[in-house]
Amino acid sequence: MTSLATSVQVCEDCGTELDELNPAGACPSCGGLLELRHTLIGEGPALRARFAGRRSALRGPDASGVWRYREMVLPSARLDPIVTHPEGNTPLLDSRAVARWVGFDSDRLLIKHEGHNPTGSFKDRGMTVAITQAKRSSARAVACASTGNTSASLAAYAARAELPALVFVPKGKVAGGKLAQTIAYGARTLFVRGGFDECLTLARSASAELGIHLLNSVNPFRIEGQKTIVFELLEQLDWKAPDWIALPAGNLGNTSAFGKALREAREAGLIDRVPRLCAVQAEGAAPFARSFAHGFAERVTVQPETIATAIRIGAPASWNRAVRAIRETNGVVTTVTDAEILEAKAVIDAAGIGCEPASAASVAGVRKLLASGTISRDDRVVSVLTGHLLKDPDAVAEYHATRTADRPHANPPIEIEPRVSEVERVMRG
Ligand code: F0G
Repeated sequence: MTSLATSVQVCEDCGTELDELNPAGACPSCGGLLELRHTLIGEGPALRARFAGRRSALRGPDASGVWRYREMVLPSARLDPIVTHPEGNTPLLDSRAVARWVGFDSDRLLIKHEGHNPTGSFKDRGMTVAITQAKRSSARAVACASTGNTSASLAAYAARAELPALVFVPKGKVAGGKLAQTIAYGARTLFVRGGFDECLTLARSASAELGIHLLNSVNPFRIEGQKTIVFELLEQLDWKAPDWIALPAGNLGNTSAFGKALREAREAGLIDRVPRLCAVQAEGAAPFARSFAHGFAERVTVQPETIATAIRIGAPASWNRAVRAIRETNGVVTTVTDAEILEAKAVIDAAGIGCEPASAASVAGVRKLLASGTISRDDRVVSVLTGHLLKDPDAVAEYHATRTADRPHANPPIEIEPRVSEVERVMRG
């Protein structure tokens, strides 16, 4: 298979075009974000059949829930240098317990669980593409700023590709599971005295000056991989689009990816109508929701604070493309409190599904919009859980330490002497 030049990188702000293999990372003319445009190979029914045919693959890129959709991701990538675990192939679950808590009578709610990816978050879908592309364009080292999941994913994929990795994380604000992964997979880990926003600013200038490839979601190849969350869930619904797709929003890369995926799925004839996006932010870190409330009249920044450390972000980088995603899908941006996030998480966890705090925001947001009537009882909704329960064990231990009025789902462990009578006492309640 030869490498066909079927994609270009285009600056979203000034329209400058760059070759697909150009490693610039940002527009050399105006500094704007780059977006990939593909020459589409195939149309709806033929593409759907091709994607379905690859589902039986046992190994290699076809077995990946990202590369199976490669005509929509990176059509020119040759199959041999692809760095894949594989990733994707995550389940679309129903849960009566979660649906009931949200306020639906029936199974109108489905849960797309991205925590089932190899490093436990959706970041792996973007990282397989970004690392593959870094290899294709002869990168010597890769870097990212992160609240923890991107760094875990980057560290793992860089190790698989035998590339040195450098990560910038906010000191004291990264959940234990994510930090453990990042260090164990071998990334050089820098604890920056500041928040995620300072980490990203530093990572951007350091990468530019030192010639390191920056693999945050400002990197357009990350966005291409993350689009496959949407393609895969649509395929799991036999390409019958739901009414809503809900997701947590922080740096806004994923919101942008979902918007692009839906636009392109529609253009390619994979679906005939576009679901509405529902982006959910934590109340203490909600610049995008505040701006949405005023018709996106201005770009807002805040000093972020939330228990959901993954989305503790005050100056999101993928702003303009996320605005486009919300506008094009007639979407909504909402907020939920930390208490609502923790309650949603406890319900999702106790349903045997489990997720990290930020992920639960998507379910808490749906509950809020159903109560306010924005989402109707007849709507079909897919909530995306972005990360695994084990990412943040401290949040679990803290919530379940004691049962209180505001923590009704707490399940504190019970200490006993090693005697059957003690077990009987506990069983009697
Ligand atoms: N959910 C989880 C579990 C995340 O880790 C993130 C982002 C998001 C949601 C929000 O996605 O930033 O594309 O809007 N985590 C990044 C990181 C910032 O560094 O791991 P977004």
